[in-house]
Amino acid sequence: MRKLAAGNWKMNGTAASLAEVQALIAAHPAPGCEMLLCPPATLIAQANWAARGSILALGGQDCHAKASGAHTGDLSAAMLKDAGAAYVILGHSERRADHGETDALVHAKAEAAVAAGLVPVVCVGETEAQRDAGETLAVIGAQLDGSVPAASTAATLVLAYEPVWAIGTGRTPTLEQIAEVHAFLRDRLTARIGAEAAGVRLLYGGSVKPSNATEIFAVPHVDGALVGGASLKAADFGAIVAALSAA
Ligand code: PGA
Repeated sequence: MRKLAAGNWKMNGTAASLAEVQALIAAHPAPGCEMLLCPPATLIAQANWAARGSILALGGQDCHAKASGAHTGDLSAAMLKDAGAAYVILGHSERRADHGETDALVHAKAEAAVAAGLVPVVCVGETEAQRDAGETLAVIGAQLDGSVPAASTAATLVLAYEPVWAIGTGRTPTLEQIAEVHAFLRDRLTARIGAEAAGVRLLYGGSVKPSNATEIFAVPHVDGALVGGASLKAADFGAIVAALSAA
């Protein structure tokens, strides 16, 4: 399994940020893991051009469940693919919270992504209140069952565990907590899609940074990271890429 370092720029970045893409590629021309950046959709085509000839993959942060039509302001998976994307993040907790995205909608989007030739990076994660109530595994198990298409394979799915309370807060779960959830996700995914689950990359996301990446990547069933804030700077994301390459 080729591990995956994925960056999520969220609603950050303009054409000037392409310098970070170039710096990342220059510093890591041949990393020992797959490298993915998901900039705002406005930058995918330019970032793809900047990354031409390199191993850096581009991705979107969301797509519509329909292939085309009267959906003002939305983007289809095929449009992202056309702009140069190979992946699309789906069901991020910020989409679930800000836009009321349900598991059923994320499931429909994931099917649309695969149909268009994109690999969905499906996100699941509990809130702090849910963790405190002892509901973590029940919540993420239900999100997985509802969001992941049953026909998914190792080539058509990446799954990201992102505890909501760890996103952008500087707080991370203990390594034991990450280990518990990732082992659970592997089992639950096996129940849902069968033996293919063994090859699906399980990413951890939530305040991953150069200083904690190495210890997180040593946790069993952590096959990479989904990185927000620390992906905005080539030096920080590059350090995480290096840590994953060495894991
Ligand atoms: P963070 O975000 O790394 O800034 O915590 C992670 C994410 O939301 O994917």
